[in-house]
Amino acid sequence: MSDNHLTRIKDDLKNVSSENELMNVKSKYLGKKGEITLLTNSLKDLFIEDRKKQGAKINNTKKKMELLLENKLDKIRSELIDAKLSEEKIDVTLPPRGSSFGSMHPISQVLGEVVAIFTDFGFEVTEGPEIETDYYNFESLNIPKDHPARDMQDTFYLEGDKLLRTHTSPMQVRIMEKNKPPIKIISPGKVYRCDSDVTHTPMFHQVEGLFVDEIVTFGNLKGILIEFCSRFFGKDIKIRFRPSYFPFTEPSAELDIEWTDKSGDKTWMEVLGCGMVNPKVFEFVGYQHNQFSGLAFGIGIERLAMIKFGITDIRYFYQNDLKFLSQF
Ligand code: DAH
Repeated sequence: MSDNHLTRIKDDLKNVSSENELMNVKSKYLGKKGEITLLTNSLKDLFIEDRKKQGAKINNTKKKMELLLENKLDKIRSELIDAKLSEEKIDVTLPPRGSSFGSMHPISQVLGEVVAIFTDFGFEVTEGPEIETDYYNFESLNIPKDHPARDMQDTFYLEGDKLLRTHTSPMQVRIMEKNKPPIKIISPGKVYRCDSDVTHTPMFHQVEGLFVDEIVTFGNLKGILIEFCSRFFGKDIKIRFRPSYFPFTEPSAELDIEWTDKSGDKTWMEVLGCGMVNPKVFEFVGYQHNQFSGLAFGIGIERLAMIKFGITDIRYFYQNDLKFLSQF
């Protein structure tokens, strides 16, 4: 009887390929109404001797069945894992995805080029704070409170008399306060203004230049800036100096460069302010009257980059659009 059961369960298990099917076979023999369970239940009708004998036989069969079921379960599970692994085969012949390289931001590139040209001219590089005091940003540059020139450089004010510097010119005063001429420095960095349109962003970059000695002339100023432009843009670029006004230089000028705007028309783009250091600024830093003369300039880096790369909207530089940035 029990041997017969074992043969049958073995046959049944041959056709089993999933855990569910296995559970069905299990309950067919060992479940509540399974064949072996029913046999066990019927033992109570036998005499004690037969009950013992039959009981041991059934138990033996039951154990063998459980072992068969367990082995089959192991087999099903390991086959499942094998199947999954073989699906996940790694194709070593696939071409690699390739890595993408970043590149320097166009503004950093231009800043680096400008600094390289002026260090070649013998200027030393020095950097200053972006959070300035009213004194260095305005007062000591001959822009007193309520002076109309403050209107052009509206900025972000912080607590006390602190503000985000509107230009790199405060570095002129900071350097002259601590050093006696000859002084020949440039000072690159970020500056801030309440401004935003196609040619203005609230944060932009400038490079300040200052050259002070016993005799420095407007001719020196023009010579340095013309040479700078032809090195930066190439010899063919068209330049003009236009008289202008800055409280900290006298006389003052702006340098414009010819460029083609959005609609394709040729116009002039202002790229820097410059002039001869105003004697009032020398007074602020404690230099004696008429002892020194100096030239100064402040270059807008974004403007240079726009002209060099033919970009018509300054805001592209700060939108972090990879399609734009990866062209440089
Ligand atoms: N600081 C001026 C500005 O941001 C630019 C400037 C003009 C700088 C004349 C100078 C200078 O050093 O001499 O508008």
